[in-house]
Amino acid sequence: MDPEQARRTLETERERGLRAIAEAASLEELERARVAFLGRRSPWSEVQRSLGSLSPEARRELGRLANEVKAALDDALAARRAELEARAEDELLRSDRVDVTLPGRRPRPGSFHPLTIVQEEIVAIFTRMGYRVAEGPEIEDDWHNFEALNIPPDHPARTMKDSLYIDVPGLLLRTETSAVQIRTMEQQGPPVYVVAPGRVYRREAVDATHGSVFHQVEGLAVDEGISFSDLKGTLEAFARALFGPERRVRLNPDYFPFVEPGAQVAVSCFLCDGVGCRVCGNGWIELLGAGMVHPKVLENCGYDAERYTGFAFGMGVERVAMVRYGVNDLRLFYDGDVRFLERFEGAA
Ligand code: PHE
Repeated sequence: MDPEQARRTLETERERGLRAIAEAASLEELERARVAFLGRRSPWSEVQRSLGSLSPEARRELGRLANEVKAALDDALAARRAELEARAEDELLRSDRVDVTLPGRRPRPGSFHPLTIVQEEIVAIFTRMGYRVAEGPEIEDDWHNFEALNIPPDHPARTMKDSLYIDVPGLLLRTETSAVQIRTMEQQGPPVYVVAPGRVYRREAVDATHGSVFHQVEGLAVDEGISFSDLKGTLEAFARALFGPERRVRLNPDYFPFVEPGAQVAVSCFLCDGVGCRVCGNGWIELLGAGMVHPKVLENCGYDAERYTGFAFGMGVERVAMVRYGVNDLRLFYDGDVRFLERFEGAA
């Protein structure tokens, strides 16, 4: 290659190379330009290789020019690479953009069912007094549900009309949590202080105040020297914890086969304080059944009825929840309507 031709080649290559680099639209195109203009097979490399055959003077001059051209192309390559890289990053950022000003999607947290809230509150009042939680099966046998509770064979509760029997003879869906009294005393000796929350079943037409499935909390205390005044004091403490410190408790005689004496317990209304209003009617809210554990029940469980006495009580959770939340139809608790259930968010 003669020096003049080499010089022209270098000049042309510089010009074409700079243009190609400027026009490269992607990093791939840029790399192709680098190979084309500075790679081993590029005209620039060819000139470089031919320098050895030139005169020292021409070699020096063309060597300098070749270096100049390479430096110019290298600079242009680096600058264009930086540009293309920045652009690629911009594009990535744009396509990945998150609009942080959009309102967030609020998760809708679940909440406890009002019956759960009330049941736990009732149970907690008693566990704070030292009671323990006891449980029993929802499918009960005749002994625990009736016989041991001193419910005689001809008692109306035993008929198909009032109880829900299952196909296995002698088994039924428990009609009251009082069955857990028996199970507890069979399992342990005195003293006993338990509360038993749970579901119970009755063959009853469903309406605003009745259901065939509902919940009760049972209480049982058996010890030496327990008297009726202990029962009353306990229920008073309970009523005040649940409905406020001003509450009074009223006991009227009532009959349950497994207690003697037995009482129907009412609490002075927390809204009108006993005057009478739309929640209570006559100033009193009937809340539970209670009484002194019948000696026969103690004996049925192997307890010495001469030495030990006790009291028992039982209340409906739905009833407490209706009064507490001013709900006038029990069925609302079971419909699963979110608009109803939402009102109890955060109530626990
Ligand atoms: N088990 C009774 C009912 O379901 C309530 C009760 C419990 C009464 C304990 C007295 C003692 O109505």
